[in-house]
Amino acid sequence: MKTLLTEEQVQEGVGRMAAELNAAYRDTPLTIVGVLTGSIVLMADLIRKLEMPLRVGVVQASSYRGATTTRGSLTVNAEMMPDISDRHVVIVDDIFDTGHTMLELLAIMEQFDPKSVKSAVFLRKHGRQEVDITPDYVGFDIPDEFVVGYGLDYQDAYRNLPFVGALEPAEIESCPP
Ligand code: IMP
Ligand code: MG
Repeated sequence: MKTLLTEEQVQEGVGRMAAELNAAYRDTPLTIVGVLTGSIVLMADLIRKLEMPLRVGVVQASSYRGATTTRGSLTVNAEMMPDISDRHVVIVDDIFDTGHTMLELLAIMEQFDPKSVKSAVFLRKHGRQEVDITPDYVGFDIPDEFVVGYGLDYQDAYRNLPFVGALEPAEIESCPP
């Protein structure tokens, strides 16, 4: 595996995202909704740097059922989601790849009548977008490689790495879906 973002770079990126959110919301109460499971590490770091009155919730979305590049059907479980009606909301996900997950989540959130909904992603993969939205807050733009660590997984492994690594094709092939 090659390192794409070191632990130091990762932390610098989280600090940058937090500073942008702090500047945008200041004293405005905010509800952060993390997308399970990939966002948990980012969420833990990010929310501790946020200074506005904050509520934290989660929603579950799974689209990658084993395969790395092909998109499975997207499943969203909003049962755990906090009450967001009349609140400012930021959805937080680990990575913006095709963008279908975020597009779907934004549509679901809108049904609960929030005051506003924005999106924040730690990584945005270059040249993969298939939807007409762009995330409001982005930690890093990365090349089109399959990445793991800092919450991101390959078949539920590697989420605990404190850095972001790109898997070599052989590493993916040696452990097929
Ligand atoms: P999208 O709907 O194509 O934007 O996919 C978003 C979801 O796909 C993310 O929440 C990740 O769980 C997963 N994903 C996309 N690219 C990668 C990657 O390179 N490594 C690990 N997971 C990924
Ligand atoms: Mg995910």
